[in-house]
Amino acid sequence: KKVVLAYSGGLDTSAIIPWIKEKYKFEVIAFIADIGQSEQDLIQIKKKALQSGAISAYVYDLKEEFVKKYIYPVLHTGALYEGEYLLGTAMARPIIAKKQIELALQLNAHALCHGATGKGNDQVRFENVYTTFAPQLQIIAPWREWDLNSRSDIINYLKKKNIPTEITFKKIYSRDENIWHVSTEGGILENIWNQPKKDCWCWTTDPILAPNTPEEIHLKIKNGYIISINEKKYSYLKSLKKLNQIGSKHGIGRIDIVENRLIGMKSRGCYETPGGSIIVKALQSLDQLILDRESLKWKKQVGLEMSYTVYDGKWFSPLNQSLIDSMKSFTKRMTGEIVIQLFKGNITVLKKKSPYSLYSETYASFEDNKNYNHTDAQGFIRIFTLPAKIRALKNKNKN
Ligand code: ARG
Ligand code: SIN
Repeated sequence: KKVVLAYSGGLDTSAIIPWIKEKYKFEVIAFIADIGQSEQDLIQIKKKALQSGAISAYVYDLKEEFVKKYIYPVLHTGALYEGEYLLGTAMARPIIAKKQIELALQLNAHALCHGATGKGNDQVRFENVYTTFAPQLQIIAPWREWDLNSRSDIINYLKKKNIPTEITFKKIYSRDENIWHVSTEGGILENIWNQPKKDCWCWTTDPILAPNTPEEIHLKIKNGYIISINEKKYSYLKSLKKLNQIGSKHGIGRIDIVENRLIGMKSRGCYETPGGSIIVKALQSLDQLILDRESLKWKKQVGLEMSYTVYDGKWFSPLNQSLIDSMKSFTKRMTGEIVIQLFKGNITVLKKKSPYSLYSETYASFEDNKNYNHTDAQGFIRIFTLPAKIRALKNKNKN
């Protein structure tokens, strides 16, 4: 029997390979999703999987698809979990799990396995997708089964199995990285009265040490997608990479938050989403031009709803799809240009325009009264405030 494991190259997933072989007597196939995690050498990760005892290892390049089909649809609803988290890990799990299942079905595997712990969100996200597409496959979650409780237990176990480990590399934090973000949890961050140390941050410059001169960038957006930066065209993936690079330099996109996990407890995490934070800001300022009041309010509600469906790993659900679809008529108007200034961790929108803009200088101006009849407002206010008037008259003799 075969099991397909979502393999990251880390110590935990490396230990899972011999553990499954010992416990289940299954052949282990390593599935490695390339979603833009650091400059990690994927060839090296593949080698490590084989050294750890996998019978084969597959690397899938999912970067383009991740950006286009997962990240942008979320951006188009403006979803932010609990008002701040840009959902970087949550958006990545469904694409990884989906492709892992495809491989498992191709290879006639019997089971699927992931390396998420029994305390977190990720286990739920993986298994939600597994169950959606392949309910017939067995799910193995070693962290909920084995008695390797610490880092040193895992290292000792690997040693016992004669599998090379880099013991010198002392892992302090729990990290998750992809093209969109890097998250850091655990270690000193577990005490929420501790400030993050320098080593809690991976991508971004400390805003205090960022350049003393602001940088302006000119973004062109078409149908909700960034298509050019400073007049130079980029693919969706490349523009995100470019914005990550510029944003990191200026200390953009750091957050340090306590969030509610799906399974009940609160957890503290430091997130870096430099390019993403710039894109969110750019799209928000386009919305200011394009959406009327009720539409903007509706979008906020859709974004709020989606922040939960995505966080909870319900990506492939009719509800999530319906939220994505519901934004299409807005997204096709999300076209325009934005000039943004980056300076020591701050993103400031300096200029914005759109062919779909509803902003009218003629109507808004404090100078010109020709197009707007002030007396119209008088009648409007009389009707609008009528309920207040009736209430007041009715209550006059009470108290
Ligand atoms: N708390 C974040 C989330 O639930 C990040 C999780 C990070 N995952 C990890 N395996 N380190 O989306
Ligand atoms: C994990 O527990 O495996 C990582 C954190 C999370 O899933 O929330």
